[in-house]
Amino acid sequence: MSTVAVAARSPGSEPGRIDVLRRLEAICGDRNLASLGARLEDLAGLVHADMASLERELSLPTGPRAVHRGAEHLISLGGKRLRPMCVALAARIGSGFDARARSLAVAVELVHGATLLHDDVVDMGDTRRGAPSSRAIYGNAVSIFAGDWLLIEALRRVRTAAVPGTLERLLDVIEEMIVAESLQLEGRGRLDTGREVWRSVVEGKTAALFRWAMFAGGCVGGLAEDEVRTLEQYGVHLGVAFQAIDDLLDLDGDQRATGKALFADLREGKMTYPLILALERDSATEPLLRSVLGSEDEARDDARFDDILAVLGRTGALEDCRALAEAEARKAVACLSALPPGRAIEALVTVAEATVARHA
Ligand code: IPE
Ligand code: IPE
Ligand code: MG
Ligand code: MG
Ligand code: MG
Repeated sequence: MSTVAVAARSPGSEPGRIDVLRRLEAICGDRNLASLGARLEDLAGLVHADMASLERELSLPTGPRAVHRGAEHLISLGGKRLRPMCVALAARIGSGFDARARSLAVAVELVHGATLLHDDVVDMGDTRRGAPSSRAIYGNAVSIFAGDWLLIEALRRVRTAAVPGTLERLLDVIEEMIVAESLQLEGRGRLDTGREVWRSVVEGKTAALFRWAMFAGGCVGGLAEDEVRTLEQYGVHLGVAFQAIDDLLDLDGDQRATGKALFADLREGKMTYPLILALERDSATEPLLRSVLGSEDEARDDARFDDILAVLGRTGALEDCRALAEAEARKAVACLSALPPGRAIEALVTVAEATVARHA
């Protein structure tokens, strides 16, 4: 087996400061850019070298098998790299982004990649990162094995980095993610999924990995236990905000920006936060949702989606989903006040704001 770098990058170049900035701006589009712009530049200035070295190390041992091609396909398409950025910034609050921090940052992106490969099988996702998903190209079985392989690769890197506590904690987090996905699966097609269940699912399937990113970065940066716990709380709130916006983008996003098909959650019978709110507020939502859940008539569904969007608008569900994300981002930022001020902390404030402003 040879080792080749397969991470996304501009052809023939490494992501420099401008590349990182462009990626961040593309994530946020023109929303709030007047206030966010300068801070995004500062964030890019702080992490561009870390992110460049991350891309170099995001290389996988390749081989001739379909499982390698399936994994490589996903990783090479890039993505926002938000979780490794969290590791880098948490580490930078302390002693900095060294080789061990880089391995942990690579690991979190590999775990994330594994969950995406598995997620597209579970959710029947055909588009990912603006391209056909691995499962669409290589099939479900390959996508599952490719995800398993990325997971092993991630665990191996965490073991080698040997930062006390990080491997054990990652094992717990992966279990949390699996259990949360199972809870979500059991509720598929059920309109009685409420906000509490939504929150449990989201804390497990999405926020837990952000929490680990902050934990791992804090540990490798040599922060005190209570500081690491504070960073974990930031990760939880950031993750919930992140998923609330993901739920929103599934309904009113631009698929050229998200790189994923619209209405995927609705088609698969997943009660996302805006749908839960609309159902609570307007009884007309119920028959409308029932007519789509489990339906295989895509042409008819498309017409219904317009009606559902109208209800979501009328009931203020989209607005209030964004308000929840904003509130969670504010809570994330509030956690940071317990830590010594500095450039990394300011950058984490920017990450929280960009997470809510994002449209990709
Ligand atoms: C997608 O995560 C999965 C969710 C937790 C919603 P991202 O939106 O971070 O995906 P990439 O890495 O940028 O493609
Ligand atoms: C996000 O769930 C959690 C993951 C672990 C992938 P989604 O199913 O909403 O993610 P996307 O929208 O397909 O990226
Ligand atoms: Mg899913
Ligand atoms: Mg999905
Ligand atoms: Mg989603």
